[in-house]
Amino acid sequence: MEVIEILRNVSKMIYENVKDLAGTDNAAGDFGIGAGGDISRNIDIIAEKTVLDYLKEIKFDCIVLGEECGRVELSDNPKGFIIMDAIDGSANAVRGVPFFCSSLAFATEDRLSSITDGVITNLSNGDMYWASKDKGAFMNGLKIKVHDKDPIYKIIGINTSGASSDLMEQLQPIFEKHNHIRHFGANALEMAFFARGLMDVFIDLRNKIRIQDIAAGYIIIKEAGGLLLDANLNPLDADLSYKTRISFIAAANQKIIDDVILQI
Ligand code: IPD
Ligand code: CA
Ligand code: CA
Repeated sequence: MEVIEILRNVSKMIYENVKDLAGTDNAAGDFGIGAGGDISRNIDIIAEKTVLDYLKEIKFDCIVLGEECGRVELSDNPKGFIIMDAIDGSANAVRGVPFFCSSLAFATEDRLSSITDGVITNLSNGDMYWASKDKGAFMNGLKIKVHDKDPIYKIIGINTSGASSDLMEQLQPIFEKHNHIRHFGANALEMAFFARGLMDVFIDLRNKIRIQDIAAGYIIIKEAGGLLLDANLNPLDADLSYKTRISFIAAANQKIIDDVILQI
């Protein structure tokens, strides 16, 4: 089975297993601090178990880097890494806000730039986004592309959760100049929305994003024709360590970077 097929199958299984849980007491159960540093909720644990059980069942030779479970070696002879954020947007999922997803990616080496496949499923409605290197990006089977035209409304995604006052000050010119700023609370799904052309730029300069939050979005945005840059406007790359924290800028084209980012 192709890697993308494995990721899509198991992403659908997560959707089936958690779709009725959002907003219930059962979703919220506290399992202590996970490998990514946040509290693991019952919904996170159920979703991760779905993936681990499936990968074991099909005997996929890999190392799993899960946001909650940490590094799980499923083989002595791994083909690569499955980078798993089984539930991204856990706060939304637990509260019942219908904006959360699963994010699964496959990398052949210990680098973001070696990611070959990624799948993000919107767990509030089942929409599935995926991409494989050099094969394009898709949503529910239809090709997607970033929004590369002058928009009627310029929509700018900015993650400001827990941002420092210095960063807020730095971003202030963007808030003043633009009327349609958005922050939905699930980084991976926001990357998928950006890749689909629903936002013109998506920025997270807090230096808080983990590899698991970004891995599937990385390949989906690239395959949808978007630019992914670090805070110094260089092409985004990083190792897959649990300690790594990332800032990034996703933009449809250089003009948007000139208009929005270089103004700050
Ligand atoms: C979080 C979400 C959120 C972002 C946080 C992430 P989680 O992931 O992506 O949008 O602001 O930095 O930690 O904890 O819900 O998987
Ligand atoms: Ca996450
Ligand atoms: Ca998570």
